[in-house]
Amino acid sequence: MSANHATRRLIGGWRRTFSANATLKRPSTGRATNAVNSVQALGWTGRSVFALAASAGVVGFGFAALTLDGSPKRTASLFDSEAPGPRYGSVKEMETAVEEIRRELERLGEDEDVISTNADDLLAHGYSEWSTVNPDGLPVAVAYPRSTEQVSVIARICHKYHVPIIGYSGGSSLEGHFSAPYGGISVDFAYMDKIIQLNKDDMDVVVQPSIGWQDLNTQLNQANSGLFFPIDPGPSAKIGGMIGTNCSGTNAVRYGTMKDWVINLTVVLADGTIIKTRRRPRKSSAGYNLNGIFVGSEGTLGLVTEGVRPLFHR
Ligand SMILES: Cc1cc2nc3c(=O)[nH]c(=O)nc-3n(C[C@H](O)[C@H](O)[C@H](O)COP(=O)(O)OP(=O)(O)OC[C@H]3O[C@@H](n4cnc5c(N)ncnc54)[C@H](O)[C@@H]3O)c2cc1C
Ligand SMILES: *[C@@H]1O[C@H](CO)[C@@H](O)[C@H](O)[C@H]1NC(C)=O
Ligand SMILES: *[C@@H]1O[C@H](CO)[C@@H](O)[C@H](O)[C@H]1NC(C)=O
Repeated sequence: MSANHATRRLIGGWRRTFSANATLKRPSTGRATNAVNSVQALGWTGRSVFALAASAGVVGFGFAALTLDGSPKRTASLFDSEAPGPRYGSVKEMETAVEEIRRELERLGEDEDVISTNADDLLAHGYSEWSTVNPDGLPVAVAYPRSTEQVSVIARICHKYHVPIIGYSGGSSLEGHFSAPYGGISVDFAYMDKIIQLNKDDMDVVVQPSIGWQDLNTQLNQANSGLFFPIDPGPSAKIGGMIGTNCSGTNAVRYGTMKDWVINLTVVLADGTIIKTRRRPRKSSAGYNLNGIFVGSEGTLGLVTEGVRPLFHR
């Protein structure tokens, strides 16, 4: 499939979204409100009103789910003029952004083409057989940055053209986390998969987002560090996505979940700004818990390009 074909597919996806929404959105909310109004008119008291409003809500949802059966579950759409929330760039603007990112990275000395518009690539980054939900629509491009600075350039240009940015690490999440319902650019960290620094005595390690938790443990073993990283979600999961989902695993009962395993992060914000959380030593408890904002935010607040994880003795 050519890039053009892929784009047409994407637009098709958007259209389907729009028509599904137009018939669904208002009836379901309308029902819930009417039910509450008529109950109040009858003079019922607090608790029963709540119970009924809740069941009316469930009916509304059931209706929506029934009608949507077989098609993606979605609540708001780009082309629904009354939908609240951000408005994204057109496909044309997204393509302009892709070209501008290519030019800018080349100007900064990158020899490789960091952006792919290969149809299989787009599909692999917007659809997952493991996922419980696969909204229509695919990213218009997949970017493979090599550094925090490149991620920053990508974000800055996406920001300029209102292009959605979707982080992608192992692609093992199960609830459509990395899907691209509004198109945009999927940022795959595949080339950022290194251990940057292992601090044996401090029992921590600085890593890039695309190192898998299993690879990390293999490398800690090979370095005879006597240390290990205990968080164990899906086998192909990588640190960036594990932070994105605040993941757990079978070891969680003993070792906690991902939120317990972040000391500091380097994050690229939506406009390309690069920030670092917690400049202080591990012992310090001063300052806002910025790690806690980014852990579990599913890539919606920024892209994590580097992180420091504490480790345990085996
Ligand atoms: C067999 C199997 C078992 C599983 N068991 C568990 C389990 O026990 N517990 C559990 O919690 N999960 C489990 N999962 C789900 C999955 O492994 C986790 O959600 C995991 O954390 C996803 O990591 P990933 O690298 O695959 O992320 P992806 O799927 O690539 O991305 C996940 C989310 O993080 C965002 N993201 C990716 N990279 C970055 C980045 N660098 N910066 C910011 N955001 C980013 C993405 O946009 C997306 O929203 C399981 C999955 C499978 C297939
Ligand atoms: C992050 O943590 C590491 C290890 O504790 C430390 O060496 C580094 O200075 C910290 N970086 C920031 C920006 O806080
Ligand atoms: C992460 O998940 C745990 C439960 O596993 C929860 O206690 C914690 O509040 C979550 N942390 C963040 C930052 O979302």
